[in-house]
Amino acid sequence: MIIRFFTSFVALLLVVNQGYSQKGNSFDIQKQIDYCAKQASKTLEVIPNDGTSPRTVPNGSSQWKFVNYKDWTSGFWPGELWYLYEATKDKKWEKEADKFTRFLTPLSVIKAADHDLGFQVFNSFGNGYRLTKNKEYKEIVLKIADTLATLFNPKVGTIQSWPHNKFGGHNTIIDNMMNLELLFWASKNGGSKTLYDIAVKHAETTMKNHFRPDYTSYHVLIYDFETGKKIKGQTAQGFSDESMWARGQAWAIYGFTMVYRETKDPKFLDFAHKLARVYLDKLTTEDLIPYWDFNAPNIPNEPRDASAAAIVSSALLELSSYTKDKKLKNEYLEKSKKMVVSLSENYQSRDINSAFLLHATGHKPAGSEIDCSINYADYYYLEALLRLQKIK
Ligand code: GLY
Repeated sequence: MIIRFFTSFVALLLVVNQGYSQKGNSFDIQKQIDYCAKQASKTLEVIPNDGTSPRTVPNGSSQWKFVNYKDWTSGFWPGELWYLYEATKDKKWEKEADKFTRFLTPLSVIKAADHDLGFQVFNSFGNGYRLTKNKEYKEIVLKIADTLATLFNPKVGTIQSWPHNKFGGHNTIIDNMMNLELLFWASKNGGSKTLYDIAVKHAETTMKNHFRPDYTSYHVLIYDFETGKKIKGQTAQGFSDESMWARGQAWAIYGFTMVYRETKDPKFLDFAHKLARVYLDKLTTEDLIPYWDFNAPNIPNEPRDASAAAIVSSALLELSSYTKDKKLKNEYLEKSKKMVVSLSENYQSRDINSAFLLHATGHKPAGSEIDCSINYADYYYLEALLRLQKIK
């Protein structure tokens, strides 16, 4: 027994160290976190004092574009600041994180515009509460979880993602899996038990309808609003209705891994493995950073999406912790680490702008945010670094 434990431990250490050494230099996680802190300090110097936060730096520019609390990405910048506070324990970051988090307070007194409340509120107030136990944050998270739940359609069994865009029915996008974390948390921290049931029902309905037989994800699923019947799968931000949009698959892997964590229902774990498998099998880039869509027509002359790599690397680190099969666990650890090393060595913005990463792609079909810096790439990159540091 002791020998078996020792052998597994040595094997794990070997895997953990793989990918840390390239060109003879060892990969220093702390150095990457320090880099993120340095970049974030530079960003703080240029943010206008008007309640906005940085979202994106267009390709070829060095200037951030800023957004207000209503933007779907408004929670990522405060989330990055909370992660920096967690990593450094430096009160400077707590002060800034609190300031930018509070800019999102109006979300607690308005109707749900769409499903993105989870991204907005859990990354900001949610991380803030986790680290400080500030009751004001908790109240806001609980209130907004109830707001998100108003978009649940019991006839369909999912939350409607974009009420403003009917697509001829009730629409749910795969990204919506990420917002369930807000509901799980609220149900376990004083909110209604119904929030838990809504989150589970959404995950089950999505698992049943949102994927092709090979476990690749549609971006958008359209349901009949009244009967709840599935009408069709299609894309919004991917190359085509039947293509595998990289970030969509990334949200799915992360989302179902998180749903397993919250429910401990093995069917969600099994599903997360299937989603990860197809992503890793179809990933052909040597540096493990995907093209923005796995079926984009001009590969290799297509933009990459560093955000998808950041999301998947963080998700695989969590998924590896639930994986008993040693070979699979090692594969997840090895590949997620290689993704983080790759992002760190070849995708950092450094002196080009003050984001952490370059080469993310937001909405290629709309010609928007192509091959640029985006706050959610930075957020999940920093999260992956922190997860990696904890494993080490
Ligand atoms: N949730 C929107 C996106 O991933 O671009």
